[in-house]
Amino acid sequence: MRTVSWHGNKVRLIDQRLLPWKLSYVDLDSHEAVAEAISDMVVRGAPAIGATAAFGMALAARECNAASIADLISWLQAAALRLKAARPTAVNLAWAVDNLMSLAGSSRFRDANGLRAALLERAQHIADEDVRTNRRMGAHGAALLSEGATVLHHCNTGALATVDHGTALGVIRSAHERGVGFHVLLDETRPRLQGSRLSAWELEQLGVSYDIIPDTAAGYFMQHGEINLVLVGADRIAANGDVANKIGTYQVAVLARENDIPFYCVAPTSTIDLELASGAEIPIEQRDRSEVLAPYGQELAPAHYHARNPAFDVTPHRYLSGIVTESGIARAPFESSLRRALAGEAPQE
Ligand code: MRU
Repeated sequence: MRTVSWHGNKVRLIDQRLLPWKLSYVDLDSHEAVAEAISDMVVRGAPAIGATAAFGMALAARECNAASIADLISWLQAAALRLKAARPTAVNLAWAVDNLMSLAGSSRFRDANGLRAALLERAQHIADEDVRTNRRMGAHGAALLSEGATVLHHCNTGALATVDHGTALGVIRSAHERGVGFHVLLDETRPRLQGSRLSAWELEQLGVSYDIIPDTAAGYFMQHGEINLVLVGADRIAANGDVANKIGTYQVAVLARENDIPFYCVAPTSTIDLELASGAEIPIEQRDRSEVLAPYGQELAPAHYHARNPAFDVTPHRYLSGIVTESGIARAPFESSLRRALAGEAPQE
């Protein structure tokens, strides 16, 4: 199953808003439609929106019938701005768009059609590479899960949040494929319930043992000795190792420290943003209050009530036991280990 693909000259996405009730696909034929699908969370999850935006750029190049490379590039610049504005926190989106723009800016194309073909080829490569990267992270991280363990997981980080396989849930999947027997507690992840709607849907299909828990129950299970490991994903990681991830991650990290439970983040190196010295600089998306008051249209409180809805929080690096990347597991001091991971080297000396 691929969350994101190129199909009949369109971008094909699983409509994640309809899961777990219905598995259905949408085919998008313009970069504007792709940007809207990202904002509306038809597709969500940092690596998945990166790959989607890459295909969105390939689509943008086909929407414009400019004959000259210069005209095509100025159209692409506008499309890039539109796609990057769709969601601000996950750096994979900007990373993928910038990757295609720098390809467009290289002077190796004879004509505009050559550039169009190269952009599609690069988007396809980004999508394929995401799956290979996730499998490598799965291989590095699987050893963290031991027979009989219980793992706490927050949000959704599986195949749906990536192109396939997943990041933190990918580690869980890799360990399951190795035959390790363990149990997963899934934070339901308010307000959009990625844990109970998406992660549980994935674990059902994989046959992994799980229970959905209210976000507010994580401390209870830790205090009762029922959690041995915490695995989460990331939307952006600053140079010092601070991790922006789905809202609620920070409180899980603090609880894990209080209860002496290892807390690992699993993310590809495309999620690392060395331009930002610390997590304080990461832009945090503020989403509509209707997601809190009436998630998926189900009224929990009157629509005129006041509410706030930050979509992400930042976990300071001191709470992390390590960051599982495709190059290996990076540990403190993260300034150096993350740089090595980004260079494709083993993170620890
Ligand atoms: O708002 P979302 O659902 O797009 O959130 C992104 C995420 O899926 C999580 O924050 C995840 O832990 C990191 S991406 C694998």
